[in-house]
Amino acid sequence: MKRIRLSQRGPEFSRIVFGTWRVLDTGANAQEINRRLHACVELGMTTIDTAEIYGLYEVEQALGAALALSPGLRDKLEIVTKAGIYVPCPQRPGCRTAYYNATGPQLIRSLDESLRLLGTDRVELFLVHRPDWLTRADDTAAGLNELLREGKIRAAGVSNYSASQFELLSAQMEQPLATNQIEFHLLHPEPIHDGTLHQCEKLGVAPMAWSPLAGGRIFDPANPAAVRLAAAAESMADRYNGAKLEQLAYAWILAHPAHPLPVIGTNNLERLRAAAESDSIVLEREDWFALWEAAQGRKIP
Ligand SMILES: NC(=O)c1ccc[n+]([C@@H]2O[C@H](COP(=O)([O-])OP(=O)(O)OC[C@H]3O[C@@H](n4cnc5c(N)ncnc54)[C@H](OP(=O)(O)O)[C@@H]3O)[C@@H](O)[C@H]2O)c1
Repeated sequence: MKRIRLSQRGPEFSRIVFGTWRVLDTGANAQEINRRLHACVELGMTTIDTAEIYGLYEVEQALGAALALSPGLRDKLEIVTKAGIYVPCPQRPGCRTAYYNATGPQLIRSLDESLRLLGTDRVELFLVHRPDWLTRADDTAAGLNELLREGKIRAAGVSNYSASQFELLSAQMEQPLATNQIEFHLLHPEPIHDGTLHQCEKLGVAPMAWSPLAGGRIFDPANPAAVRLAAAAESMADRYNGAKLEQLAYAWILAHPAHPLPVIGTNNLERLRAAAESDSIVLEREDWFALWEAAQGRKIP
């Protein structure tokens, strides 16, 4: 698996990242999660994406338990976590309604708790999960800057920020933001046009692309875009060693000149291996556009 430096002073990550949002969906225990992490390391997919809210605040603890089973495993991985989204659930008694909080003190409290749950003393990347409409950028930056100075986070970044939100926060940072983790895939190509990918390219910041298979919707036979994509993928598979739709969907993201890193969500080991192979697929220009047209159901302008 190829590797990429997220930004000039940012960490080096695997080109494809293993996402853990759904890791508890199949009832996996610590042993099973430990097996998946080892499989990731064997495939060179050493970067693991998580967040405090995943599994309603239970995934980080499960990851910590899985890491504790193999001393040394943590040091083979780059860990990304995020903070700032709070929703009512049994793990957050007293929380009446969903809200965002990206104030400096909250980010510091959250990161400290994430480190405790993961059983580690630092993460390679810490992201503000969503822009908090009620918090000034200097307040958010103060928390991130303090965590950077203390060495608890190797780099700071954001997720789901618009280009202007990214620029506003960047101006307050002592170390440049290392990424913007955004929704970008065949069924959501908007970042190509809304300025977020242009900004990443201009700043030399590799974005992270979440839900690269649209959370599985690109396989939904009831979705006309998925049906068109399946046909398009079949028509070009021979040119790519029989590649499957999911592999072509990852390659479609990887081909963008801003160098996005797909953050994948499968719990299936065979699909994990197929994902790892897709970083060697270089889509021909015409096939990239053919996939765009199939997804959009229209010709390019
Ligand atoms: N920053 C953010 O706001 C944000 C938001 C959402 C997600 N994320 C990150 O992105 C990661 C990935 O998100 P995601 O899980 O939505 O990604 P995804 O890779 O787009 O979707 C994964 C889903 O697709 C299914 N799938 C994969 N291959 C399939 C196939 N060939 N046929 C049918 N279904 C298939 C998987 O099921 P199987 O497990 O059975 O393969 C799984 O349910 C998350 O884990 C998280 O780390 C970040």
